[in-house]
This record gives sequence, structure tokens and C-alpha cells, in this order.
Amino acid sequence: MSDIKKYIEANKDRFINELIELLKIPSVSADPAYTQDVLNTADVVKDRLEKAGCDLVEICDTPGYPIVYGEKIIDEKLPTILVYGHYDVQPADPLELWDSPAFEPVIKKTELHPEGAIFARGACDDKGQMYMHVKAMEYMTTTGNLPCNVKFMIEGEEEVGSESLGWFVKNHHEKLANDIILISDTGMIANDIPSVTTGLRGLSYVEVEITGPNRDLHSGLYGGAVANPINILTKMIASLHDENNKITIPGFYDKVIELSDEERSEMAKAPFKKEGYLKALDIEDVYGETGYSTMERGSIRPTLDVNGIWGGYTGEGAKTVIASQAFAKISMRLVPDQDPKEITQLFYDHFISIAPLGTRVKVTPHHGGEAAVTPIDSIGYKAASMAYEKTFGKKPIPVRSGGSIPIVAMFEKELGLKTILMGFGLDSDAIHSPNEHYGLFNFYKGIETIPYFFSYYSKLVKS
Ligand code: BES
Ligand code: MN
Ligand code: MN
Repeated sequence: MSDIKKYIEANKDRFINELIELLKIPSVSADPAYTQDVLNTADVVKDRLEKAGCDLVEICDTPGYPIVYGEKIIDEKLPTILVYGHYDVQPADPLELWDSPAFEPVIKKTELHPEGAIFARGACDDKGQMYMHVKAMEYMTTTGNLPCNVKFMIEGEEEVGSESLGWFVKNHHEKLANDIILISDTGMIANDIPSVTTGLRGLSYVEVEITGPNRDLHSGLYGGAVANPINILTKMIASLHDENNKITIPGFYDKVIELSDEERSEMAKAPFKKEGYLKALDIEDVYGETGYSTMERGSIRPTLDVNGIWGGYTGEGAKTVIASQAFAKISMRLVPDQDPKEITQLFYDHFISIAPLGTRVKVTPHHGGEAAVTPIDSIGYKAASMAYEKTFGKKPIPVRSGGSIPIVAMFEKELGLKTILMGFGLDSDAIHSPNEHYGLFNFYKGIETIPYFFSYYSKLVKS
């Protein structure tokens, strides 16, 4: 058995118990009710980084939640790997759909995790994955196996758009100087099909509000004679896709980089089983943009989705009313080279232009972020590939993901640095959903794989 495997074997219960302590703190960044919990989580992360062997650990204040920064510089001449992760989590709602409380972690076996998985909000996204790096660091420092310098930057606002992090990165170029960024906050295809994420989508998120008459009206007295904001809003939203499920906002696709046929056929080699996909979601068929496969629709193509919609009477029974207002939250996932600010503006102009007389429209932009792609011919990718090959017994497949981690593009713009996305979660781990979980296999495999990345990367840089 390798040293790292032995180390994990000897410490596995402690590792899980430490993670459980972290998962018990409800660090929900979106809800001010949890402010103290978010701050407490930062303190715990600081303490864990110190125990793992960082020489310097700081809680860095920002306009929002603090960033936990840690480092161990063993030799200025050696390369530096910067590990990024986040200690904040998504809200746990709807609470009633959890089989066990979101912040009372339990370990249960599942079909895909026969060795057990830990169920809690943040188990996979991202406390469990972030903590793999802390434990990998502990192994490398306590056994004298740290081959290079390391910096940690663990933030508390990822789930609400990383606004303070953008500010922090802009103002701390020197402190954050490094050779490559390493993130475990994505997924892989399956426990026996490792993959490395090579792209993320960008995001533009807006909230819209339609106002009609100045008060709620009797739907009998006024129905049919005035614009009903809910009718209008749903009609406007429906018009944002055409019959081929293309987005109708003028200019929306202007900057979209189309993949070459070669790139697309390369992509199509990644294993995808439609049957399993349909079964896992309990749907009869997939749905999306004409001319693209399900995998393409979910990664290299831009989207527009309503994330929430409300207005009018939603209580018990029937109330006959035409509401004065209707609302929706809309996300657009973007691909290279779509600019989130430009897309938000295009949405804004178009949405206002399609509103009929008799209604007023308000569009409020929320956070956004740019898409990112990472090369597969870099030293970093090679090191990652070798690390997976060592611990999984096979080379990872490069896969572009549909999710967003805005900091990746920001790092590239601000610091000119590329990121390696070594994610160990599964799509079925229910991140952001009730019953989020993270496989114990995945947790330990991550801890095992990370030190190999450090060592191969350091060797490849030197040669
Ligand atoms: N870790 C996720 C992103 C992710 C998950 C990427 C799985 C690829 C595979 C991250 O925490 C997240 O949820 N990001 C948000 C964007 C953010 C601006 C709120 C997202 O993608 O919705
Ligand atoms: Mn995440
Ligand atoms: Mn998330």
C-alpha cells in the first residue's frame, strides 16, 4: 500500500468526524439569519489549516464574508499551487424534502455509494471537497512529502456570486501570486470513470418585475379589459425561446464560440447513457436546443431558464383576482466568449421592448460571471491526468461542465493563471438539492489523488 493510502487508512475516522463538525455549521451565505454561522465556519477553517501545517493563516476581512488565507512557503524557488474552495453553502430549503436534517450529517449507503455517503448541505459542494485538500496538506506536511509551496484561499461567498473575492483578488496580486490554481468544486463522470473538468459556463442572472394596474383587481370586473401582469409575464418568457429552443434575444448568440466538428466528436466520446439519465430524473425524454446532444446542451451551449416565478394568489382555495404585479428570476448560462454584462444588457433591452403598453417592466441584474475553458495540453493537466491514473488506474476523461465558478475566469484575467478543476462529486450527489451527499469513496479518493498532483506537477515544472 502506498504511504498516502496507509495514512488515510490510519486516520479515516478522524477525517470524517472532522468533516462532520464542519458540516454541522449552517454557513448559508444567502441568508443573513446565518451570518454568525458563516463567520464561525471561517474560524474553524482557519484552525484546521493551522493544524494541517500552514505557517501563516489569516482571516482576511472583505466588504462581505471573510476569506480564509493560508500558506506554507518552503522555498521561494519552487512552484506554488493555490488551492481555492468555499466554506459557504446553499440554503437547505425546502427542508421538508430532506430525509434527515440538512445540518445533522449522517452516513448512509446508496446505490452509487455502496461504501456509504455523508448526507448534509455542503457535503459535496463544497465543504467535503475543500476539506480533502486540508487533509491532503496534513499528510504532505506531517510526512515530509510537500514538494512545493502551497497557498489556500477559501471563501465564504461563492454561492452568492463571489463579489468580495473579486475585490480581494484585485487588491492582493502579490499575496496570491502562484503558478497554478487547483480547485475541487466540480464533479466526475462516475466512481470508475474519472474525469477532469475542462470548462465551466458563465452566468447572467436577472430578476424581472411586471406591473400592470395600480392595485389587485376583481378578475370578473376587470378581467379581459386590462393587461394581466402574470399572463403577460408568462407570454414574454415563453417568447424567449423559439420552436427549436433557440434563445430569441437579438444578438444573444453573436459571440458564442461554436465548437469544430472535431471538438464535438471528441466530446461525444465521453460515456453518456441516455437511459440512465432519463431514469435518474424520472423523465420520458430529454428536451433542448435542436441540433445538439444532451451533453452539448448541458455544457457548451448557452441557456435561459426561469429559476422562480410568482405573483397573485397562491393560498388555499380560489381567489378571483388580477394581481397588480408578477415576478420571475431568470438565469442565463453563458459560454466563451459571451460577456455577462453585455448579455444582461441585451436581455434588458429586449425584455423591455416586448412588454405591451399597459404594463411597466423592471429588470434588476444580480451577480454574474464569465465562462472558462482550461487547456488539456498544459503541465497542470498532465499532472492531474497522471495523478488520476495513479489512484484510479485509468486516465481521466476531459469533460466540460455546465456549472459556473466565476472566480476561474477572474483568476485568468487578473493574474493570468489557469486552473485545474479536479472535482470528485457525482451529478447524482444532489448539490443545491435536498439530500445532498458525498461519497466516502470520493472523499478518500480525493485525499489520495491530491498529493500525487502536487508531486507530479512539481516534477513536471522542474523538467
Ligand atoms: N460548485 C458549484 C459549481 C459546479 C458544480 C460546477 C458542479 C461544475 C459542476 C458552485 O458552488 C455553484 O453552485 N456555482 C453557481 C454559480 C454561482 C455564481 C452562484 C452555479 O453554478 O449555479
Ligand atoms: Mn461549489
Ligand atoms: Mn454551489
